[in-house]
Amino acid sequence: MTIIGLGLMGRALADSLLTAGHQITVWNRTAAKAEDLLAQGALLADSVNSAVSASPVTITCVTDDQSLRQALAPVHDELDGRLLVNLTSGDSAQARAMARWAEQRGAHYLDGAIMAVPPAIGTPEAVILLSGSTTAFETHQSILDGLGTATFLGEDHGLAALYDVAGLSMMWGVLNAWLQGVALLGTAGVDASTYTPFAVQMAEGTVGWLAGYADQVDSGAYPADDATLATHAGAMAHLIQESERLGVNAELPKLFKALADRAITAGQAEESYPALVEQFTQASRAS
Ligand SMILES: NC(=O)c1ccc[n+]([C@@H]2O[C@H](COP(=O)([O-])OP(=O)(O)OC[C@H]3O[C@@H](n4cnc5c(N)ncnc54)[C@H](OP(=O)(O)O)[C@@H]3O)[C@@H](O)[C@H]2O)c1
Repeated sequence: MTIIGLGLMGRALADSLLTAGHQITVWNRTAAKAEDLLAQGALLADSVNSAVSASPVTITCVTDDQSLRQALAPVHDELDGRLLVNLTSGDSAQARAMARWAEQRGAHYLDGAIMAVPPAIGTPEAVILLSGSTTAFETHQSILDGLGTATFLGEDHGLAALYDVAGLSMMWGVLNAWLQGVALLGTAGVDASTYTPFAVQMAEGTVGWLAGYADQVDSGAYPADDATLATHAGAMAHLIQESERLGVNAELPKLFKALADRAITAGQAEESYPALVEQFTQASRAS
């Protein structure tokens, strides 16, 4: 196994593989960062080409796509018949372009996204999303499982990057909604710790609706068995009014209402909440 990129994450990956008993070869632009790993038995390649040639599988983890392109620029035939697993963060277009780059060199390619911090690597908490060659994933799954919970998403190389940003959108959606509530309750002297058990209850209840709503999105039919978009829009107006009267930021509630209003104008007032998906599947409009 070869690791290219020995920053905070690359060193964690390398350390985890060494701890699991694998022989590894490493390469980093700044060779000094390999010192601790060499003391643990890793081998240092004197060039990126010899690093790739040393192993059937190369894992890359550098800053971004541009750094990756620069690091791998000298590599050509060395990748032929080998597997490249790229765990550098990037977008889906970069992943698909990198897959073409690897295929032109005869390599199998898996693109990945690490949903964890370096100290979690090697534990089940470190979810590592992967997409690309099914055969390559199945052949090397035991090694990838050693880095964390290796989760294969499908043959489209862009999927790991897309799940990565979708997951971040979910995270910021919940965090921003929680902060809106913290600000509202704060005006009544309720501190965040007191409010938060109720916020968690609301978030968990909402998450429970998602599987049923996903069926509506997938079928394209939005029967309002619970509440109509018109009812939601009325409650959103109340949230905006309350925020403004209390001197709390109302930008997030106004965004919610703008999206709902557009769907209502488009004739969806009596449909259920996930009918709003059509506001998300279109490119942004000028506000
Ligand atoms: N750290 C995290 O918590 C975390 C979590 C999830 C995902 N990730 C992802 O993991 C990747 C690495 O993150 P990190 O935390 O390890 O970053 P880092 O500590 O800043 O390390 C960056 C690495 O990229 C190398 N590099 C940068 N530009 C290069 C170039 N032009 N040519 C060759 N090598 C170059 C650096 O080499 P030098 O040592 O020579 O500078 C170093 O090995 C990123 O894509 C990041 O988004 C990180």
